[in-house]
Amino acid sequence: MGKESKRGFDYESLDDEYAVSRRTDPVIARQIHAALGAARSVLNVGAGTGSYEPEDRHVVAVEPSRTMRSKRPPSAVPAIACTADELPFDPGSFDASMAVLTVHHWPNLKRGLAELRRVTRGPVLVVSFDAGADTEFWMADYAPEMTAVEERRYGPIARIVDGLGGQAEVLPVAVPRDCVDWFQAALYARPELFLRKPVRDAQSAWSHLPDGVEARVVHALADDLESGAWDERYGVLRSQPRIRCQMRLVIARS
Ligand SMILES: C[S@@+](CC[C@H](N)C(=O)[O-])C[C@H]1O[C@@H](n2cnc3c(N)ncnc32)[C@H](O)[C@@H]1O
Repeated sequence: MGKESKRGFDYESLDDEYAVSRRTDPVIARQIHAALGAARSVLNVGAGTGSYEPEDRHVVAVEPSRTMRSKRPPSAVPAIACTADELPFDPGSFDASMAVLTVHHWPNLKRGLAELRRVTRGPVLVVSFDAGADTEFWMADYAPEMTAVEERRYGPIARIVDGLGGQAEVLPVAVPRDCVDWFQAALYARPELFLRKPVRDAQSAWSHLPDGVEARVVHALADDLESGAWDERYGVLRSQPRIRCQMRLVIARS
């Protein structure tokens, strides 16, 4: 099984379900790959199981967790074992670099972003969440505690822009209704998926909540789905092709 601790997320203890729940979504991938521009060499930091790595360019992947490295498919390049804050590359080694849904795990965000900038000649791409932005996603109605957790973990997107030198484009990411990368907001139209523990276990936010909150949310959601209360309140989202949420693509050009 994956983590059970409420003291934080442990990538080393994830089971095989992770690779089922967290995969490259083609719509999100298109946006990331377009932002890579003409880059031929790409560094992927916090690369995990290889999601979103382009297949038509030379990729170097960096991933500190042995478990995550071992779950990379045979088609992906093996990942180098190191962290963002000390990248073992010379200045300007890569045409572009990317860090997807990982910077909130870095103990020293500023240093990690400075390292990305140092080793990259062209664009540095970061996909993250802007905890202060508006969202149509409803989870905070069930777990107000989640808002505090996410604000602490992600902070304002300006921190990422600043860490990349102060100049960057910040684009909303269009999350589709059938998104196959099951981070929380991706399930906006499929609330039933939150009732599956392996799906929640592949979403790190749950592990940061106070004891008892996850069980409370799951019970409330299950009751509301059974009674129809969820559909009365949010059912319109079931047919909405995309959600306005807090996911952002930050592009810092050289
Ligand atoms: C949610 S996963 C994202 C993986 C992949 N980028 C993706 O989009 O599927 C976050 C990853 O960040 C990695 N990570 C955690 N701390 C890190 C650090 N200090 N430097 C680089 N990567 C780190 C974790 O091991 C994990 O694989």
